[in-house]
Amino acid sequence: MLALGAQGVILGTRLLATREAPIHEKLKRALLDATELDTMLIMRSIGATHRVWANAAAKRCSELEASQANLPEILTSWREKRRGRCTRPGCGSGVISCGQGIGLVHDIPTVKELFERILREAEDPEETGRKLRERF
Ligand SMILES: Cc1cc2nc3c(=O)[nH]c(=O)nc-3n(C[C@H](O)[C@H](O)[C@H](O)COP(=O)(O)O)c2cc1C
Repeated sequence: MLALGAQGVILGTRLLATREAPIHEKLKRALLDATELDTMLIMRSIGATHRVWANAAAKRCSELEASQANLPEILTSWREKRRGRCTRPGCGSGVISCGQGIGLVHDIPTVKELFERILREAEDPEETGRKLRERF
């Protein structure tokens, strides 16, 4: 992002897989297995597009939209994500916001470790590029 000229970024998805994230461990582990192909867009039909983890709840929401469901039905499906605030074992069954960057997430560090790593990588782009090439 710095190379593209940004002075800052909004970081969302990466923080889901940190020790401190207040979501259930099983959901964190499931997200580690997700690839960049495991997200989808929902809520476009009502002008509130969100990219989310492509789980059963997201697919249900998308099906509702395709079947011309009314606004309350779509919103009820979406709001399932709020139940239990993702801290319970079954929370992955709700809709979870998630960017395509999830495909680059392979561990669950502390927030401190994560930001130290991001800073290190930003300061040494050659080493970072080498590591990425090794991985892919
Ligand atoms: C857990 C989570 C919650 C989010 N909540 C909102 C939200 O309430 N409103 C919004 O506009 N975007 C929300 N987003 C989308 C972020 O704005 C989006 O992910 C952001 O562009 C950062 O990109 P990244 O997730 O690829 O890091 C959320 C994303 C995540 C992962």
